[in-house]
This record gives sequence, structure tokens and C-alpha cells, in this order.
Amino acid sequence: MLDNFFRTQLESLAKENRLRQLPQSVHGIDFCSNDYLGLARTQQLFDDIQEKVGALQFKQNGATGSRLLSGNSNYTTDIEEKLSRIFNSESSLIFNSGYSANLAVLSSIPQRGDTIIYDELAHTCIKDGARLSLAHRHSFKHNDLADLERKLINSKGRKFIAIESIYSMDGDQCPLKEVVTLAKRYHAFIILDEAHSTGIMGTKGSGMASWLEIENQIDIRVYTFGKAMGIHGACVAGSSQLIQFLINYARPFIYTTALPPHSMVAIECAFAFLEKNIHLQKKLSHKIDLFNKYTLGLRNKMMSHTSIQSVIIPGNDNVKKAAARLQARNFDVRPILSPTVAADSERIRICLHTYNEDQHIIDLASQLIELSLSSHSAMH
Ligand SMILES: Cc1ncc(COP(=O)(O)O)c(C=O)c1O
Repeated sequence: MLDNFFRTQLESLAKENRLRQLPQSVHGIDFCSNDYLGLARTQQLFDDIQEKVGALQFKQNGATGSRLLSGNSNYTTDIEEKLSRIFNSESSLIFNSGYSANLAVLSSIPQRGDTIIYDELAHTCIKDGARLSLAHRHSFKHNDLADLERKLINSKGRKFIAIESIYSMDGDQCPLKEVVTLAKRYHAFIILDEAHSTGIMGTKGSGMASWLEIENQIDIRVYTFGKAMGIHGACVAGSSQLIQFLINYARPFIYTTALPPHSMVAIECAFAFLEKNIHLQKKLSHKIDLFNKYTLGLRNKMMSHTSIQSVIIPGNDNVKKAAARLQARNFDVRPILSPTVAADSERIRICLHTYNEDQHIIDLASQLIELSLSSHSAMH
């Protein structure tokens, strides 16, 4: 019976050409992963982690429980102290993933009668967290300060603005300084998700707010480690009171098994490795500049100065075909379909990495231009 329900639902997705399937093992040149700085594939970091895990002689394979029960250790709290120094915060708290960190913050802090105002392009975990909260919630137009101001004027209770430093689909950046000014004017609090800037911006990889030297004007900061840091996990950084509050009220923190000790070692080693190899940020910038230079004539590319680049190809069917064509030429790129992005803004999302060879970037750019020209002439 239940299988009939599943089948009907899946068939309707397939009919609309938006059935999701796990991809086959990855082939081709990586223009898809979030391993922007190549840390996930760095032998030295791999060796550092192995060595430290061996040296610490953990007697446990797993954390064995929630941080509030058997899952805490002095080592974990030491790592949190190190993260606080990196992110220049009074305190920090590790979460199992960026998804659960955002869910925790949004669902526990804004209360009934408060208002959450989030950028319309915010990640699903911000929206899901807001849905779990009892606060009112509204979106504002992407990066549109005038719309944000209108929403601030019309909102009730304490106001929380939820934004990202770099948006995961368009790759553009939020006007953080301007948002801080607005937040001050309307006595609003800022929740900043630094998922795609952790590692790639800021001395020590400490993200956009710290790069702009305004980290202490942001009330709640979320950093994730599964992207440019090449490992896994996340943390929230802010005041000691914020962290104590989350320990007491954030259900995605309280009711889950903590990350294993090996993950703590990976977090420590990844940040230590990045500090010694901070030149990787410059190397990535060079790759981004190169891609932008060779795609200058590409009208359907979104303006971006980050490692996330998008080429719009409207229609799930069209974008799937375009991605297949590039994959056949050995470029590992993926189509992003609606409803993950708005209808008519379906796209090929390209992630640039330090390890992408210049020639491969140039070749991909010329393939994208060819693709765009052929789809343009097919329409006329
Ligand atoms: C903006 C943003 N926030 C949070 C997350 C979730 O982070 P994690 O993958 O660590 O759960 C993602 C991941 O896709 C993201 O793009």
C-alpha cells in the first residue's frame, strides 16, 4: 500500500522531469564539489589527521552519546576554544553539520512574537529552521536592502535577519556592511551563515565578517567545515551567553550523538593546515579571475567573484541535456533543477578549485560559450 503511494509520488516527479537520483561514481574534471581549496584531497592533511589520531590513542570509535551525556570530552572543548580564537568570538559550539547548526539557531532563538527576515535565496536549512520556530517569518528580495528595510519597518517583536556571506546557488556575496548598518538602525540581530566563505576568506580562513573586521557586530555566526575546509561539521560562534543558550535550548544539539573524536582531530588539523597554506586563497582567486576572463562574452552567466559560478539554462530538460553534453566532454558539472532553484533559473553550477588546471578552466569556458551559442541559434 505504502509502496503505491511512493510510486505515485515518484512518477509525478519523473513526469515533471525532476526526479532526483544518486549519481553514478564521479568521472571527469571536478567542477562540481565544494572542495574549493582542495583540502579534502590533500595528502599532507590526510597524513596529519592520521598521525594525530594515532598519537592521541583514542579508546573510542564513536562519541557514544550526546555532548550533554557521554559524548563530550576535554579535547572537544579544547577544539572549541581554538575555533573561538580563529573566529575571534567569545565562545563557539560545534555542530554535526551546517544543516543542524542553522536549524538549531533559527528554531531555538527567535521566539513567538519575534520576526525572522531571511534572504529569499537563503539555504534550505535556514528556511527549515525558521519553519520550526514559533516566530513570524518573511523573506526579503535577494540582496535587496530597500526590501529588507521595508520588512524591518513592518515586523513585530525582536527582529532577526538571516543572511549568507556567499550564496550557494548564485555565488554572489551579501552586502554585509550595509546590512549591519540597517540592523543597527532597526535594532535587529544578524544571523550570518558563512558556509561558503569559511576557509576561502579571512586570515586563518575565518570568513567574510572577519575579513571585513566586523565579526563582532554580527550576533550569531555559523561556519561549516564540509566545504573549503575539506572535512565535516560546523560551529556557531558568538557570545558565551549565546553558546550557553544553545546548549540548553537547541534541540539539534541536545538530541543527537556528537561527532566522533576523529572528526575533532580533522577540524583541528584542517585549520592548522590552512593557516600554514593560506596562499591557497590567492590561488583560488586566480582561478576565479581566469574563468571570469574567459566567460566575459557569456550572457547567461551570473556575475560572481567567488568559486561558485552559475550559467542559466532555463528548463529542467534543457539544463539536463546541457550538463550531459559537458559531462560527455569530461567536465564533471551538474544541472541544478527547479524547484531547488526558481523555475526558469535552472542552471549549470560550476565550482572552481585551486586544483583545476588553467587549461581545463579555459576549455570549460569555451564549451560553455559554444553551448550558449548553439542553444541561442536553436531558439531562432
Ligand atoms: C549556505 C549553506 N548553509 C549550510 C549548508 C549546510 O552545511 P552542511 O553541508 O555542513 O550540512 C550548506 C550546504 O549545502 C550551505 O550551502
